[in-house]
Amino acid sequence: MDSPSPKRQKFEGSGAEGYVPENGNDEMSLVFSLLDKKGALVEALQPFKDVGVTMNHIESRPSRTNPGKEYDFFVNCKDCTQDQVDQLVRSLRPIAKSVTVKRRQPAEDEEVWFPRTIKDLDKFANRIEGYGDKLDADHPGFKDPVYRKRRKEFADIAFNYKHGQPIPIVEYTPEEIETWSTMFKELTKLHATHACKEYNHNFPLLVENCGFREDNIPQLEVISNYLKQCSGFQLRPVAGLLSSRDFLAGLAFRVFHSTQYIRHSSKPMYTPEPDVCHELMGHVPLLADPTFASFSQEIGLASLGAPDDYVKKLATFYWFTIEFGMCQQNGERRAYGAGLLSSFGELQYCVSDKPTVKPFEPEKIVVQEYPITEMQPVYFLADSFESAQEKLKAFAATIPKPFSLRYDPYTQSVEILDNKAALTKVARDIQTDADLLQKAIEKMS
Ligand SMILES: [Fe+2]
Repeated sequence: MDSPSPKRQKFEGSGAEGYVPENGNDEMSLVFSLLDKKGALVEALQPFKDVGVTMNHIESRPSRTNPGKEYDFFVNCKDCTQDQVDQLVRSLRPIAKSVTVKRRQPAEDEEVWFPRTIKDLDKFANRIEGYGDKLDADHPGFKDPVYRKRRKEFADIAFNYKHGQPIPIVEYTPEEIETWSTMFKELTKLHATHACKEYNHNFPLLVENCGFREDNIPQLEVISNYLKQCSGFQLRPVAGLLSSRDFLAGLAFRVFHSTQYIRHSSKPMYTPEPDVCHELMGHVPLLADPTFASFSQEIGLASLGAPDDYVKKLATFYWFTIEFGMCQQNGERRAYGAGLLSSFGELQYCVSDKPTVKPFEPEKIVVQEYPITEMQPVYFLADSFESAQEKLKAFAATIPKPFSLRYDPYTQSVEILDNKAALTKVARDIQTDADLLQKAIEKMS
């Protein structure tokens, strides 16, 4: 099949979950694999000394995936800052395989950390699984050293990115543009008849304003600036797979973590993971729509501070909406999910009579099982983004959290509504809006 089956949105078991506080005072664990060769461990431990991190526990075991040839290592450290962790990961990646950071599991009554401002996204942007040239053995580019080198270049851009910086412009190669071109030509044949009206409204505007063309791979920086004007969303380059909690937290601040690399040229209609074709042809046109943007942000806000089991449910909700969502428009089923809109095969399949189509009921969506490597057997049909958002809000209200949150677009931060001053501010804002509404109605009549 040619579905992108974007693994990032599967979220589960990423192995890179968790948060290391900016100021230390907490535990952090690193897991990595080393080849069974002389001096490998000494070389891998040197970065811990260089960065100044104290280990309080280390253990090893023969690798489960490559026994006899590799060893897996678990290292526990205390009181290390996020910068130290970033440096460690950066130093270990050329030496070790599958470097992941794990957090100490919080106690049951411990409050879950979450970003309070858009700048806080920097704190976990590099807490990722997979990096650059580390591809699975069944990846189309696994045996291509040129492709792997290129993937590392893209990963380095994202790894070094900080909020507020322009996203570096990439000069795509003729081979990469050819891959984009093949995919672009095929997909655009279907969108007029298979995509939702919001997609078909925004796509020509992206052609006009952001260089969406058959012979050009649009730049993330240009698109991000355009989206800010349309819906307040922006793109942020990402070096690998984020956990569900971290990926959804970005949505709360209207930030979409986007890949910048392209799929392997041998299979222009297939990618086993999200790539720039999936992001740009699938996600971006909908992110330009204000109503869809608001719906996406609602999922992110619901995830902030939510218990792990509810984050998993929200990740499933994301899967069946933002990735594989369908809606009813003018008596027809149309696609709004990025996994559909960027897949030539599944876009045709989803409107056929083969899949099961169920009504949009969040409490059923969040527990629905789904495959990630084949076409979806089940879709949920929304009436509109507005009604989907209202239903999502009702579900979000059932998430056990000891506080309510409000997003402040002026400061791009979330406010916890757990004190009199915060509630007074909300009341004052509501009063101001009510006055404005009343005056506007009076003028109209
Ligand atoms: Fe996606």
